[in-house]
Amino acid sequence: MNRHLLSTADLSRDDALLILDTAEQLSQVSDRSIKKLPTLRGRTVVNLFFEDSTRTRISFEAAAKRLSADVINFSAKGSSVSKGESLKDTALTLQAMGADAVVIRHGASGAPHRLANWLDGSVVNAGDGTHEHPTQALLDAFTMRRRLGDLDGRRVTIVGDVLHSRVARSNVHLLHTLGAEVTLVAPPTLVPVAMGEWPCEVSYDFDAVLPKSDVVMMLRVQHERMNASYFPSAREYSRRYGLDPERLGKMPDGAIVMHPGPMNRGMEIAAEVADSERSTIVEQVTNGVTVRMAVLYLLLSGSEPAIGGNQ
Ligand code: CP
Repeated sequence: MNRHLLSTADLSRDDALLILDTAEQLSQVSDRSIKKLPTLRGRTVVNLFFEDSTRTRISFEAAAKRLSADVINFSAKGSSVSKGESLKDTALTLQAMGADAVVIRHGASGAPHRLANWLDGSVVNAGDGTHEHPTQALLDAFTMRRRLGDLDGRRVTIVGDVLHSRVARSNVHLLHTLGAEVTLVAPPTLVPVAMGEWPCEVSYDFDAVLPKSDVVMMLRVQHERMNASYFPSAREYSRRYGLDPERLGKMPDGAIVMHPGPMNRGMEIAAEVADSERSTIVEQVTNGVTVRMAVLYLLLSGSEPAIGGNQ
């Protein structure tokens, strides 16, 4: 494993499997009445969030605390960032306070890479602009493996606002590394120009791809990143690219529905689908804690056993 986790494109198949297998071991802790290991006692993890988050920020905090690390939560709102302090000075200030790992979410693509050049400790990308969200892809792969087994040859369809999605890019790279076949489905206006370099297929016909999918992952329409009109109306988007009960019925037996959250219920996914037995949306959140425990554990103390020894 590298010292940092910045992109799923940096992970070898062995790295990815190590993280998923370690998460599987660590999930035993989540089933205990006392959900805590001493593994990262004395280490400090800083959550540095320049963009809003519910799932990622809270699950990194829970993951670090379950490994007994000290946790410092930094939110740009209410900090000296509002007085004009730069990312570099903010990061060096946190390092001076003893951060062993910095988990960063930032609106600028590439911000975690810059941070990794300035800091001595580990940097974990918790979502940078429209670029990557590697721990989301890892928890998605973990969830798929638990439901479907080995991902080799599995057909995963990712649907929606690919253009603004860091989740899509991280998933495409990781799933390709793990042997899955990925198809992206989106309106032509929401397909990135550089898509030809991604290891996946592209389709504009959701209904044609649906019956051949083991996994259908719906993406949030990211209104906050849209500075233009990418589709005629929410109703038209839903009609062509939304997952409703009728489309759910066309999926193969055993196929699952995923969404990274937060959802626009009634737009990219109908409420009945989000709440159906095929949906893994709540499991994804639970698995996020375990997978982030594995990432922090491997980056900060990877040479010691994850479970066992002095607990
Ligand atoms: N999936 C995800 O990154 O959610 P949050 O924005 O709530 O962290």
